[in-house]
Amino acid sequence: MINIKKVIAEKINASVDFLSLEEIEAMIEIPQDSAMGDYAFPCFKLAKQLHKAPPMIAADLAAALNDNLFEKVENVNAYVNMFINKEAFSKLSLEEVAKAKDSYGNTDIGHGEKVIVEYSSPNIAKPFHIGHIRSTVIGNSINKIYTALGYDVVRINHLGDYGTQFGKMIVAFRKWGNEEDVKREPIKTLLSYYVKFHEEAEKDPSLEDEARATFTKLEHGEEAETKLWQWFREESLNEFNRVYNMLGISFDSYAGESFYSDKMPAVLDELKAKGLLKESQGAQIVDLEEYGFGPALVTKSDGSSLYITRDLAAAIYRKKTYDFAKCIYVVASQQNLHFQQWFKILELMGYDWSKDCVHIPFGLVSMEEGTMSTRNGRVIFLEDVLNKAVEKTREIVLEKNVNTENVDETAAMVGIGAVMFNELANSRIKDYVFKWDKVLNFDGETGPYVQYTHARAASVLRKAGFDEAVLSPDAIEKLDFSYLSSDSAYELIKLIYRFPDAIIKAGAEYEPSIVTRHIIDVAQAFNKFYHDEQIIVDNENEKNVKLLLTWAAKQTIKNGLALLGIKAPEKM
Ligand code: ARG
Repeated sequence: MINIKKVIAEKINASVDFLSLEEIEAMIEIPQDSAMGDYAFPCFKLAKQLHKAPPMIAADLAAALNDNLFEKVENVNAYVNMFINKEAFSKLSLEEVAKAKDSYGNTDIGHGEKVIVEYSSPNIAKPFHIGHIRSTVIGNSINKIYTALGYDVVRINHLGDYGTQFGKMIVAFRKWGNEEDVKREPIKTLLSYYVKFHEEAEKDPSLEDEARATFTKLEHGEEAETKLWQWFREESLNEFNRVYNMLGISFDSYAGESFYSDKMPAVLDELKAKGLLKESQGAQIVDLEEYGFGPALVTKSDGSSLYITRDLAAAIYRKKTYDFAKCIYVVASQQNLHFQQWFKILELMGYDWSKDCVHIPFGLVSMEEGTMSTRNGRVIFLEDVLNKAVEKTREIVLEKNVNTENVDETAAMVGIGAVMFNELANSRIKDYVFKWDKVLNFDGETGPYVQYTHARAASVLRKAGFDEAVLSPDAIEKLDFSYLSSDSAYELIKLIYRFPDAIIKAGAEYEPSIVTRHIIDVAQAFNKFYHDEQIIVDNENEKNVKLLLTWAAKQTIKNGLALLGIKAPEKM
């Protein structure tokens, strides 16, 4: 990443050699009032070493800083005010994109440190519904952002493949199920058993006891129950993978809750040894009352384990296995208390790394069509939403006579991209309502709009016969950047320059919408440039440098979309 402050610090360092580059860089300010320059350097701190009054130092320094990076350099009192030369700035900025290409925006602030991002984590044998899009798509983007920041990311899908609900499912399957139906349509069938179970259990509560007993058998590894459970798991994963493939999302590990079943006794022993367990009506709890988190139930009265215990076991296992610097959990805000509880338990166990576990919550999504409920079977499947998005996009693409040879491919790229983009467009904590005409609007601040802008830039480059040879340092040296001094060109360049900062901020705040916002801004600025100016002109010098800017805008949009997990079509 080029950092103008650093470039300036190097130039100041030539006169002020008793401060380190980092010290100088830290002293450089960005004035509130642009009349005071783009950057300013205060000289108070230099008075002691130089035995001179600060205003005099500022005057000397201003005189020494004659460099073509600056339009002008002034001294005002103890300050050196620097006005950046637009041409020099444009050249530095675009040169950087040309050098980095697909990795433009990447930095190494992570120094290869290990970060776990846990996301998606749906429950097996239950529908992968529209609500799951949130953790799946936000988590995927956080993973890509952390990778771009130079972290070594491990992507974990903590499948909900364990728990009493499997007792229910097994009981229901044995009573009313049939193998062929499950094979033909696994999740919808398994879901219908689950719904039936709840209907019947209302009339006959003993079914609940039967389900609990069946889960205990599963926990004890009894063969018949284990086999059924494994089969449900496999069939479910096949369905989930179909959706992951549509979204272009993958994981390094699918170690879900069941993976920790044999690791829980040790955790319970440890809790006991550390004096954290209390007995309460036959169940085991950790009392977190004094921290405002209530009692946390870690085993039930029948001895069966719980969700929270599996999270404790998973965190301890992950620390041992990966020695992570950070473990990020992308999970709905409804689970805030759950995470507060078990992070606290880890801390009480004496694990100082509990502070490196972060819960990244997000709000609810609802459909215009109405609410959902797994128990009574009113569910909107994510796969159906994605298919509908592709279908609707296909219609739009055909109707608009979009310039593409492959309608199906474009419809898939744009339709699925639109749903993902919509998911990442607002700050994650907000609840939102999924509205079709908002998601697929080609003119709003949407995925199709940004993808379309990318394709438009690609089309300009194609038309002009743009040759990537002009991206070499020698070729860039010959370009005349004075042709990029219009407001619309310069605004676009500034946004391109600030792209790496947007990624850093998005990472620090676990907020992909900062990247989304930034590429919307780049797309809008490019469209303004495109409308205000003629790009393919007769004057070769003017044309070449404008094509470089077009290429750099396209590259920035492409890299931004990639961080959201979205493809950038060349034609649309
Ligand atoms: N399977 C859970 C659910 O669907 C989400 C798991 C979240 N991750 C965790 N480590 N607790 O609600």
